Amino acid sequence: MGRSIFSSLAVAVLATVQVVNAQQPGSSTPEIHPELPTWKCTTSGGCVQQNTSVVLDWNYRWIHTATGSTSCTTSSGVDPTLCPNEATCAQNCVIEGATYSSSGISVSGDAMTMKQYVTSNGTTSSASPRVYLLGPDGNYVLMKLLGQELSFDVDLSTLPCGENGALYLSEMDASGGRNPYNTGGANYGSGYCDAQCPVQTWMNGTLNTNHQGFCCNEMDILEANAYANAFTPHPCANGDCDKSGCGYNPYALGYKSYYGPGLTLDTSKPFTIVTQFITNDGTTTGSLSQITRYYVQNGQRVPSASSSGDTIQASACSSASQFGGLAGMGQALGRGMVLVFSIWNDNGGNMNWLDSGSNGPCTSTEGNPANIISQHPDTHVVFSNIRWGDIGSTVKTSSGGGSSSSITTTSTAKTTTTAPSGPTQTHWGQCGGQGWTGPTVCAPPYACQTQNPWYAQCL
Ligand SMILES: *[C@@H]1O[C@H](CO)[C@@H](O)[C@H](O)[C@H]1NC(C)=O
Ligand SMILES: *[C@@H]1O[C@H](CO)[C@@H](O)[C@H](O)[C@H]1NC(C)=O
Ligand SMILES: *[C@@H]1O[C@H](CO)[C@@H](O)[C@H](O)[C@H]1NC(C)=O
Repeated sequence: MGRSIFSSLAVAVLATVQVVNAQQPGSSTPEIHPELPTWKCTTSGGCVQQNTSVVLDWNYRWIHTATGSTSCTTSSGVDPTLCPNEATCAQNCVIEGATYSSSGISVSGDAMTMKQYVTSNGTTSSASPRVYLLGPDGNYVLMKLLGQELSFDVDLSTLPCGENGALYLSEMDASGGRNPYNTGGANYGSGYCDAQCPVQTWMNGTLNTNHQGFCCNEMDILEANAYANAFTPHPCANGDCDKSGCGYNPYALGYKSYYGPGLTLDTSKPFTIVTQFITNDGTTTGSLSQITRYYVQNGQRVPSASSSGDTIQASACSSASQFGGLAGMGQALGRGMVLVFSIWNDNGGNMNWLDSGSNGPCTSTEGNPANIISQHPDTHVVFSNIRWGDIGSTVKTSSGGGSSSSITTTSTAKTTTTAPSGPTQTHWGQCGGQGWTGPTVCAPPYACQTQNPWYAQCL
């Protein structure tokens, strides 16, 4: 579902060649990206730290005259005199580096904290930052997750009804649409798009004089607060997208006591989220046939909400068939998508689509931002320990990771009176793959399914 376009925030910016080359000291603020190390993992080689950082979106920055401090942007777009067209705008205006702390972003080690509100000089205002994962080459990291998995830790214990701590993928241009008028590109957070087809002042790094919407494939890995959560593919085709998406929200599916403070997945404490993009043939080039989600908390695998596992099957996305369905989503994941992090709330809608009515336990009004700022001014989300790579390679639990003997689930500690003839693997556990010496038989009713040459899993 939709995220707001932050229309109330300072709108858009443009970099000149000079500013980005740091030849023109029009920039009062250098752009210094907070370093957020992440890990890329393989089954055979383990996890390798990546020199990644985060960059604040372009639309949050100060764009002003190259020779002065007059803003080139207005509440509704750009100043038509300073920016009648792209080339003139690039001559007249420069874009500033971001001040990350006053934008609600702080990073410590591999953990990033994102705050909805910041207080400056006694005044609390909405920061609602959105940042992207940037590589050491100044381009966005293109995560290729088809046939792979992504895991991270999250603490959303302070997010009340109405807040949305989001981690998702958008199929943005890796360079942010870098061009001669916008040499900063991804280094200045340009090029945002998503499946709601936002109309922005700049589009793919270029002044959007035609007010076009900018659609692209979007895979929502997490949209959540402490009371509700969903993961949702939003494939696109022919200039339009599946805007509502074919998502998985446990509460909406009837598992109402699964997710929340003190519940099976206890949101009052941090936990790990693993999302696997499983293909029909177990390769990284096959057709995306299912998205599987599981959680680890306190070193233990949390039982799934649904007894058959928390998955989105291709059949569940038939509503998105005109946009390519799950397979279309998979093709975008195979090409590579940009990792986006944000925290936001929802003037007008109160985030009811996520956490109220049939979607969650919140009332329809408590998510009003006016309530949140008065009652939860410190609301924030922490994302950390981001890993991606081969299925089964990114997470270790107390009994070992995908390359170890089995994954413990809190639901499988059982006393058997009829001993099986050999060791069996539990639901979700590894049951095969190159070099595997553990059990190869799954406990009923599960079957050993090959995900790739190195990994088979009891599903
Ligand atoms: C990260 O940077 C260090 C220091 O420059 C370098 O030695 C290392 O190879 C880099 N890591 C990757 C994955 O590129
Ligand atoms: C902080 O607020 C005081 C009182 O309103 C004002 O005089 C001062 O200029 C403000 N300082 C900044 C840095 O905005
Ligand atoms: C975005 O800009 C880049 C760089 O100019 C370009 O290669 C790419 O095709 C553009 N993408 C879209 C969707 O316009």
